[in-house]
Amino acid sequence: MSSSGRNGRGGNHNWHNGYGGLEMLHNSSTMEIFLGVGPIKKFGWTHVPSNAAFISTRQTLNPFLLCIHFHTPATMSQSLYLPLNHSPNLPFKGDGKWKKFGSLSRNRNPSHIKFSVQETPKATMLNAIPTQIPTQWYNIIADLPVKPPPQLHPKTFEPLQPQDLSHLFPDELIKQETTNERFVVIPDEVVDIYRLWRPTPLIRAKRLEKVLDTPARIYYKYEGVSPAGSHKPNTAVPQVWYNAQQGVKNIVTETGAGQWGCSLAFATSLFGLNCEVWQVRASYDQKPYRKLMMQTWGAKVHPSPSDITESGRRILKMDPLCSGSLGIAISEAVEVAANNEDTKYCLGSVLNHVLLHQTVIGEECIKQMEALGETPDVIIGCTGGGSNFAGLCFPFLREKLQGKINPVIRAVEPTACPSLTRGVYAYDYGDTAQLTPLMKMHTLGHDFIPDPIHSGGLRYHGMAPLISHIYELGLMEAISIPQIECFQGAIQFARSEGLIPAPEPTHAIAAAIREALHCKESGESKVILMAMCGHGHFDLPAYEKYLQGAMVDLSFSQDRMQASLANIPHMS
Ligand SMILES: Cc1ncc(COP(=O)(O)O)c(C=O)c1O
Repeated sequence: MSSSGRNGRGGNHNWHNGYGGLEMLHNSSTMEIFLGVGPIKKFGWTHVPSNAAFISTRQTLNPFLLCIHFHTPATMSQSLYLPLNHSPNLPFKGDGKWKKFGSLSRNRNPSHIKFSVQETPKATMLNAIPTQIPTQWYNIIADLPVKPPPQLHPKTFEPLQPQDLSHLFPDELIKQETTNERFVVIPDEVVDIYRLWRPTPLIRAKRLEKVLDTPARIYYKYEGVSPAGSHKPNTAVPQVWYNAQQGVKNIVTETGAGQWGCSLAFATSLFGLNCEVWQVRASYDQKPYRKLMMQTWGAKVHPSPSDITESGRRILKMDPLCSGSLGIAISEAVEVAANNEDTKYCLGSVLNHVLLHQTVIGEECIKQMEALGETPDVIIGCTGGGSNFAGLCFPFLREKLQGKINPVIRAVEPTACPSLTRGVYAYDYGDTAQLTPLMKMHTLGHDFIPDPIHSGGLRYHGMAPLISHIYELGLMEAISIPQIECFQGAIQFARSEGLIPAPEPTHAIAAAIREALHCKESGESKVILMAMCGHGHFDLPAYEKYLQGAMVDLSFSQDRMQASLANIPHMS
């Protein structure tokens, strides 16, 4: 390694003669990294002088995918990747121009760097396209042609003020709930924890394609590699981190499938906060191991409805065997937070700040698709409250709004709980006891109790206000699929791809299979991208039901929805 400089500063100009290299330029807050193109030689770890204003290094070997690894005392190591199959387009062939390649924040200054080389990912090597962990979340509100309607106070029906939420959430999350900023910086400590499972793999489902005999190319972004087994820790970790920063000691929440409760229990265990979870009765009974996971991470778990809260007691009085719903469990947790100064509430979906945190999925995926040279034609995700769907789709929607790509974006919901496809778009409460703010969303009515389908995480009466708004703007579409078709797809997926999906993403799989079979008929080789938001290792009773032929398609009752919609607030 030798000192050098761009634009003629420094002494070593060998890259002018066709060599590639790396140059790092310090400024006050970041270290910018520039890359020169050319033949590159493999390098071992090289010390970076701590006071280097800029450094450069030359290599001689022609890679397809260049990896630059940074070792830093604080964060151990970090890697940046550049697919050099893009290099012919780079505008600096020995003319002294350097391409900006990335940057590291100043407090991550590396002490050592190393080059390594990977081959172009071939069809057989698509499992785990490397990429960086994003350092910013993306807020789609900044780019929407029409801003979403405000949330309203549940009693006065006036637009919500930040202080109206302060008994539930820490200040920073309230700010994120209403921000119009396009990007929000992810705190370093959160990025460090993301590193436990992120970046998550983007995988091509080649074996499923073969079974379906389709010309389509199917990709899935797999979030089941997180400690809790789903996308939910992407928001649990920052939510708990912001609470911990504000000195909060106790966190309460609800959980439907058990995935969110596990994620929050995992996150609170990292920061030493107490966690109490109301788990929807149907899932509490179906998923004892989810309860045990939460307890292992130190959380207290109650079945909902419970006799601990006023909201729970009211429901149990009407129906002692009530199977519960997310709306009821939310009421119980919100009630406890509202009545206890030292306790705050976390929500696993629906709200803007939750969707915001999930955009790490899509930001990573855009880079991974680019590295493959692929552009999605159809993007598919299941929707309960909408967070995994938004997490994958919103960054792609930004690209679509900018005219760079034009994928169809499709939400898939259960036929038994079809808020987007059958609900009304109206102001409604987020919970059964009417304690939450009023949100304009697609709703089946806040006291609608969906039949106990196996996808507990999709049994929510409403859709995220942001997704509802985007749906109204015509920027995405929605369909519903009954659970037997979903499990048929899940079995086909498990037997070809190996992974056993959680019941919720089986909806995305079934929709992707429909699309792939459509391609088979039409002969189109579309690129289908789907959100595989969790594994189903603790959902095997659902698979048992299906394999025994005992699963039934639970119905959706229009009459029950109409009865429930009669109770939503009537606004002028
Ligand atoms: C694995 C999984 N997928 C999807 C969902 C639905 O939530 P959302 O629509 O917010 O992604 C849940 C909710 O619990 C879940 O656990």
